[in-house]
Amino acid sequence: MNALVIGGGGREHALAWKIAQSPLIEKVFCAPGNPGIDRLEKGESIALSVDDFEIQAEFIAARDVGLTVVGPEAPLAAGVVDYLSERGRTVFGPSAAAARLEGSKAFAKAFMARHDIPTAAYAEFVEPEAAMAFVQEKGAPIVVKADGLAAGKGVSVCADVDAALTAIRAMMVDRVFGDAGAKIVIEECLVGEEASILAFCDGRTTMPMASSQDHKRVNDGDQGPNTGGMGAYSPAPVVTAAVMREIEERILRPVVAGMAREDTPYTGILYAGLMITEQGPKVIEFNVRFGDPETQVVLPRMRGDIVPLLLACCNGALEGHEIDYEDNACVTVVMASGGYPGPYEKGKEIAGIDAAEADSDVIVFHAGTRQEGDRLLTSGGRVLNVTACDPDIRSAIDKAYGAVRKITFDDAHYRTDIGRRALARLDV
Ligand code: AMP
Ligand code: GLY
Repeated sequence: MNALVIGGGGREHALAWKIAQSPLIEKVFCAPGNPGIDRLEKGESIALSVDDFEIQAEFIAARDVGLTVVGPEAPLAAGVVDYLSERGRTVFGPSAAAARLEGSKAFAKAFMARHDIPTAAYAEFVEPEAAMAFVQEKGAPIVVKADGLAAGKGVSVCADVDAALTAIRAMMVDRVFGDAGAKIVIEECLVGEEASILAFCDGRTTMPMASSQDHKRVNDGDQGPNTGGMGAYSPAPVVTAAVMREIEERILRPVVAGMAREDTPYTGILYAGLMITEQGPKVIEFNVRFGDPETQVVLPRMRGDIVPLLLACCNGALEGHEIDYEDNACVTVVMASGGYPGPYEKGKEIAGIDAAEADSDVIVFHAGTRQEGDRLLTSGGRVLNVTACDPDIRSAIDKAYGAVRKITFDDAHYRTDIGRRALARLDV
């Protein structure tokens, strides 16, 4: 059968790359895809909109697509899984009702409160005056979050009260995130180290993948504004076996059980963004999809065929499946357009990918590229995810940066310290 991946970034390239390795799959279509996906032997980008479910349904019927995997959150929140499954299609991801775990922070917080899932203490507001009074009373540090989807930019971690008041005004009065800021959540600032856990879910059962850690700030030393993610590595040593057990028992299983009990069973990937605090792991946020760039470091470590797992999630048959990971480390460095996450120029010519990939431990996932004749050009903020696996984290970092140095485009920006927290743990 054929597979369809919806989306066109580095996460979707990694998904298409892994799905294409399955003997069950003849062809992996990706909508809208990218030039990296076209370079896969079984890969083909198709010019379909991520948001046009009707066209997607027609394509699935016409091209013998037996499995559709949805990358980004927007079509999930808009109900792509409901639409396609009502038409008898096998589609990996949560329903719109279940996708509220990411689509509404207020929903996610109230759900966690109902099911006693550890997270930061919080309050929600629809009136700016009440929100401001709350911040004045609580003091800083404090975290202000737009309720709705804001392309990863709706969170302000505020070191002082003034910054929190400014964030409230921007979200609720100036509406910089539109309706996403009509309601806000204000929460306690958690202290600890962050980690991401992505778990397969079939509505009843959950199976976590290997841990990873994202680097959200644009500059070295976690400075500068938040981005979609500037790099990642797996595994995250902060997630010891004991911490992973606690995550499963106190977070993943209660989420799946709670969603089932509330008649919105959770299928697809549950992504728990966690703070590993002195009191144990606490939820910072849920995402309802594969993480980007976490997927790019977790899938290269996964042994075996991912397709039976994806199908099992769609069919409520995950129990009994197992996943194995290579006993190694994987690092991805995001090469971005200069200026990102602010305004940046597109259309810069990219060179050196073949040289970087000459090392068989290196994979360059495309995130924002465009083919023009025989030239590969930049076409997004995050351009490439330069990924390397090696037996240990230190050499994986060295390999990834060795590959980065072979790739050039004008104004390229990347962090030089991806993986530093893992190294710091090795040194103690
Ligand atoms: P989010 O988009 O919810 O993942 O938030 C973006 C980033 O803000 C997270 O990766 C954390 O670094 C930070 N953050 C969010 N909520 C909190 C919190 N309650 N305490 C500390 N940091 C937080
Ligand atoms: N890496 C963060 C995200 O996927 O939202």
